[in-house]
Amino acid sequence: MSEKILVLGSNGQIGTELVTALRSAYGNDNVVACDIRRPDYETKNAGPFEFVNVLDKEILKEIFQKYKPSQVYLLAALLSATGEQNPKLAWDLNMNGLLNVLDLALAFKTTKVYWPSSIAVFGPNSPKERTPQYCTMDPNTVYGISKMAGERWCEYYYQKYNLDVRSIRYPGLISWKAAPGGGTTDYAIHIFHEALKKGSYSSFLSATTELPMMYMDDAIRGTIELMDAPAKEISIRSSYNFGGVNFTPEVLAAEIRKHIPEFKLSYTENDPRQDIANSWPKSIDDSFARKDWLWKPEFDLARMTDDMLKNLKKS
Ligand code: SER
Repeated sequence: MSEKILVLGSNGQIGTELVTALRSAYGNDNVVACDIRRPDYETKNAGPFEFVNVLDKEILKEIFQKYKPSQVYLLAALLSATGEQNPKLAWDLNMNGLLNVLDLALAFKTTKVYWPSSIAVFGPNSPKERTPQYCTMDPNTVYGISKMAGERWCEYYYQKYNLDVRSIRYPGLISWKAAPGGGTTDYAIHIFHEALKKGSYSSFLSATTELPMMYMDDAIRGTIELMDAPAKEISIRSSYNFGGVNFTPEVLAAEIRKHIPEFKLSYTENDPRQDIANSWPKSIDDSFARKDWLWKPEFDLARMTDDMLKNLKKS
């Protein structure tokens, strides 16, 4: 069957790469990039682009009407750190954006919807090591609260209306093509840029703050693998735990020093993102994803670091 795919929030860190991957799989004209700003990456000329604010239900409806998408990826969101600066906007965008899309997907008979959740759904009372799929969840950022509520809505639309919604709880995503979007894990991208530019970096997270992370190539592949999996294999309709590689700033710096031996890492104290990081898991148990749709990450710390530095040097 020929697919028509909408990517809402196409210009962000994930959208920039997902649109490219989907266009090479389904054809440029079948993947419509949508954002509130025009993109500056290769998405610009490669296929259709529409200005869309997911909170504007009328415009969104016109886009559904125009393209009758078989698949929709909703990536527009405010992340953990920026969300704390504007909690009401974060709630409005993350929640009402999702509800608008779920309703229109039902109305226009969209076959599959993808919506990302995050490790931010976990909180201070969640187990920190190999955090299980099902456990105490007490998120304390508005981003985490909106992702947790959104997960419940996704499952609700699946159970009540049979809408095929699929979701992943992303860890911190490391990439070089587009800038990160205002998260707590962004240090792990800034560090590469500064290592190459200045040979030093001041991390806003402490030396031993361990967090679950993943290289973008793995994240994009995993996302498409989940969307391609037969519906009968999908046992989780809230959102799947999704594991890649876990590291601290000091471990990442040591890996960078294998390429840039003079690299110096220092630390900025009292950054509000430290409290957010302290409330999140250190590592993730993703055995449901591994069992249901055969998830397996390919990038370890060494391969990720090598690839980041190589590509940033070129770009
Ligand atoms: N990378 C995200 C953040 O830090 C986690 O979902 O907000």
